[in-house]
Amino acid sequence: MSKSSDAPTGATQSPSVGTGQEMWGGRFSEKPAELMQAINVSIGVDKRLWRQDLAGSRAHCRMLAKQRIIKAADAEVILGGLDQIEAEIEAGTFPFRDEYEDIHMNVEARLKELVGEPAGRLHTARSRNDQVATDFRLWVRDACDRTVNQIEALQRALLGQAEAEAGALMPGFTHLQPAQPVTFGHHMMAYVEMFGRDAGRFRDARARMNESPLGSAALAGSPFPIDREMTASALGFARPMANSLDGVSDRDFALESLAAASICAGHLSRLAEEIVVWMTPQFGFVSLSDAFTTGSSIMPQKKNPDAAELVRAKTGRITGALIALTTVMKGLPLAYSKDMQEDKPPVFEAFDALDLALSAMAGMIADLTPNRERMAAAAGAGFSTATDLADWLVRELDLPFRQAHHVTGAAVKRAEDLGVDLPDLPLEDLQSIEGGITQAVYDVLTPAASVASRKAWGGTSPDGVREQVRRWKERIG
Ligand code: ARG
Repeated sequence: MSKSSDAPTGATQSPSVGTGQEMWGGRFSEKPAELMQAINVSIGVDKRLWRQDLAGSRAHCRMLAKQRIIKAADAEVILGGLDQIEAEIEAGTFPFRDEYEDIHMNVEARLKELVGEPAGRLHTARSRNDQVATDFRLWVRDACDRTVNQIEALQRALLGQAEAEAGALMPGFTHLQPAQPVTFGHHMMAYVEMFGRDAGRFRDARARMNESPLGSAALAGSPFPIDREMTASALGFARPMANSLDGVSDRDFALESLAAASICAGHLSRLAEEIVVWMTPQFGFVSLSDAFTTGSSIMPQKKNPDAAELVRAKTGRITGALIALTTVMKGLPLAYSKDMQEDKPPVFEAFDALDLALSAMAGMIADLTPNRERMAAAAGAGFSTATDLADWLVRELDLPFRQAHHVTGAAVKRAEDLGVDLPDLPLEDLQSIEGGITQAVYDVLTPAASVASRKAWGGTSPDGVREQVRRWKERIG
């Protein structure tokens, strides 16, 4: 930031050049305090909006010319200057300057240096309030589109595992206690469904945010004969926003996207947690290659799932961003307040974190090797087919389920006393509990039989899993 003492003299002849005040300093006779600049400046953050800012300015400039609000010749000069600014930013030669506060004033100040007087006509019928609202909407809209693509890439990785492991047995848990056998494919497909809803939330948010604030001007709308339909469609918006106060005040599009990001981060965190647990030698359900693990600087035997742990941790930043922005927006009177400049850091941070987390998770899922033997052995442990026994008693002996539950409990206790799993409990023991039980019961007591029997829609049967994989492949390719 330039020190005020370095600023050119002649500040009493306001507006003073080089302090940024030439944009708005007509009524000012003193330079801003250094601390004023320090708290006010946002260019370090909002320079990321440069593409959107140029797109908005081009659309606005063309509309002003078409409506004869500015001369066609001036518009040509302005558009040429904007092209040059784009080239400078892309080449890394554009002078981003703190004294011009934000991206909007940096672009306009540079335009003035490049093309002179016509630059001052670009801001006709526009305010930074509708400018920033437009730029930020465009940025968040792009971020939502990118996120949907990344979610689909992750879903494809999950589908790959689900297809290969549609019949691979694993224990299903409730309370992280063995509950009923499932397949690894079914487990992967549960996440495909969750991420599918996440993508849906980003699509919904996108559709709702796709209205143009441009033309709301400062807050009350414009007295010039502007064509808001024209700028809206040039920027890919479905329509202009219907209320100018709302146009410059609303940030719910950002909040909604952060809410979608938080829910998605929560799903990523659950999957990351499962990978961490499955990777411990005590579980040994899956392994990751060296590409997605790290070693310890002291314990030579270690192979740590750091990527999964960091994906789990990114949730903190993302949900933190949602809380930060809801707190900033809460209680702000209409219309614009400078508080709203604090909308960008959390949104940028959250989408950066989500971008990395989704990519890392897609990489890990593709990299993951399930240990089928280990999972299958665990799938049969803990009397995991007890429900299958109870269901058999209901189906074959017409016992009421509550009674079947009781009989099965006794069988589990007997097996526990004998130190065997349910499929190894002798028939005499079963018959001493319920006389009607026959040899046929053993057909349902293995984990493989258990998962194969769960054919009803949404169940874990390998055929059901394959059908769901097919269905999703049709949807996302
Ligand atoms: N840098 C500001 C922001 O991000 C731009 C809008 C400034 N508007 C104003 N009335 N001061 O919110």
